[in-house]
Amino acid sequence: MCGIIGYVGKHDSVDILLDGLRQLEYRGYDSAGIAVYGKSGVSVVKTQGRLQRLQDKIDAGERPFGCCGIGHTRWATHGEPSDVNAHPHRSGRVTLVHNGIIENYMQLKDARLAEGFTFQSETDTETVAATLDHYYEQSNDPIQAIAQTIHDAEGSYALGILFDDQPDTIYAVRKDSPLVVGLGSGENFIASDMTVLLQHTKQYFLPEPGEIAILRKDGVEVVDLAGKPVHKDVLTATWDVGTAEKGGYPHFMLKEIHEEPEAVKRCLSPRIRGGKVELGISGLPDDTLAAVDHIHIVACGTAMHAGLVGRYAIEALARIPVEVSIASEFRYRDPIFSKHDLVILISQSGETADTLAALRLAKEKGVRTLAIVNVPGSSIAREANDVLYTWAGPEIAVASTKAYLVQLSVLYLLAVKLGCLHGQLTEQQEADYCRELLEMPAHIQEAIDHEPEIISCAKQLKDDEHVFFIGRGVDYTLCQESSLKLKEVSYVHCEAYAAGELKHGTISLIEEGTPVIGVATQPSLYPKTVSNLEEVKSRGAKVILVCREGDKVDSELTTNLLRVPKVRDILSPLVAIVPLQLLAYHIAVLRGCDVDKPRNLAKSVTVE
Ligand code: F6R
Repeated sequence: MCGIIGYVGKHDSVDILLDGLRQLEYRGYDSAGIAVYGKSGVSVVKTQGRLQRLQDKIDAGERPFGCCGIGHTRWATHGEPSDVNAHPHRSGRVTLVHNGIIENYMQLKDARLAEGFTFQSETDTETVAATLDHYYEQSNDPIQAIAQTIHDAEGSYALGILFDDQPDTIYAVRKDSPLVVGLGSGENFIASDMTVLLQHTKQYFLPEPGEIAILRKDGVEVVDLAGKPVHKDVLTATWDVGTAEKGGYPHFMLKEIHEEPEAVKRCLSPRIRGGKVELGISGLPDDTLAAVDHIHIVACGTAMHAGLVGRYAIEALARIPVEVSIASEFRYRDPIFSKHDLVILISQSGETADTLAALRLAKEKGVRTLAIVNVPGSSIAREANDVLYTWAGPEIAVASTKAYLVQLSVLYLLAVKLGCLHGQLTEQQEADYCRELLEMPAHIQEAIDHEPEIISCAKQLKDDEHVFFIGRGVDYTLCQESSLKLKEVSYVHCEAYAAGELKHGTISLIEEGTPVIGVATQPSLYPKTVSNLEEVKSRGAKVILVCREGDKVDSELTTNLLRVPKVRDILSPLVAIVPLQLLAYHIAVLRGCDVDKPRNLAKSVTVE
């Protein structure tokens, strides 16, 4: 959460910083601010609220000038969203922006208060600015002062720092929060996310904890905490600028749903060769995978819901027991591991704090870890023993859609691979799964093509304040994901229930007109779920059914029917989620919600 950006070069920095912040706003939008090194030193402009308010303030006459600056967009943790708590924060000769959380900020604050420092804000960040200022006063050496400060500060941080007497120079350092350094020609950048920099450069490197990057117009130096130079390999981003723009769609969420067929194809086709799954993870050779006898899938939110589908697929195809855990619970549960366990971490951003902590816990216990991650070079991708990238391209909308589909795709590949290695699937069965997986992008497109029916369903549901989703088996996991999607973007209260469980209490909430969305794509469970829908219908519910093309439906039962292509049962989540994502999107639009940036949320949750 929170996004930081920095620019030093030959152009005026203000528009570059604002443009970068616009693209980083998905990381938090409680306040925004910039600091620019100009002729008369460092000027700060900041304000509570969305970036547009900062832009308005700047346009109204508070525009600083200078070719070096830093910027921040905030997701509030310590201190309410307010002007004073907005970044950048200043103390003495230090100005900085911060993404992360300083856990011992009270201790730092007490130490500084005792030395006579005063604080303007309630933030943890200002204690870092004051501590850095304190050490800089003592040594006048930026590197030494930064090293002493990060020695004292506990927690996570990516910091962009300006010193009043170090003109046109940005210092940057990180631990457990993302930070990239972009290398341009006659200009250099820092950012929380490489996609923001793609319009300027594709060359970048990732600073490691304990390294300090010093950016000037003509070059970037990296030193360790003792000031010794460190060599960094320069990487080249493979994503296009266009993928980080809306490309004619009104919202990123809609664009990303429409990108699903392409994303799934990009994720699957390089990994299927001649009817065989080739995962290409060198660190996990076949004999290691063949020995795996228990799997823990750990993730948060939508990624965890993908894991629930993964459990059905792996258990069905490979007969290996799978446990799925919410990362924030797993890490404090003292989980039981044994010798041939595999821990799979799923994360779009690769930066989610709880998932990262779960990964570290598993590694500490000596358990092999495999990450399924979308963002290249992210912390989870780098720290796991092995990584399977999902290759969906950047996902900008806060609500995850295409990332879920590619996470499912990778889990299916893994399930097929494990199924073969565990003697559960024949070569012919493997080839059949591979062929059917390769057909999925076309089926996902067919599901998207039903958008007009989904819009008319959205129109009927837009004023409802409570919605229930029911389903059985893998359909229940889709209900959980659909319920999350609808509530987060439209602020409608939703509940997902295992269809057979509703009558054990919650059915008392069903009254005349209550919408109940049934998901029934599994032939073996279809009659059971339909019976449960009959039960709610007879108590007044308005029933919407998601089922397969060709399934027989009593026309009296439903007010809306959302058909999805008929595919193999276990693969149906890849198509059945699509109308439900589109439904959430269109309900949110009809309710006038800020679809890409729902209130209180941020794309990358880098705090516990
Ligand atoms: C919901 C959503 C979140 C994320 C969760 C994990 O639409 O996007 O629930 O899935 O915060 O994020 P990652 O996948 O980045 O670890």
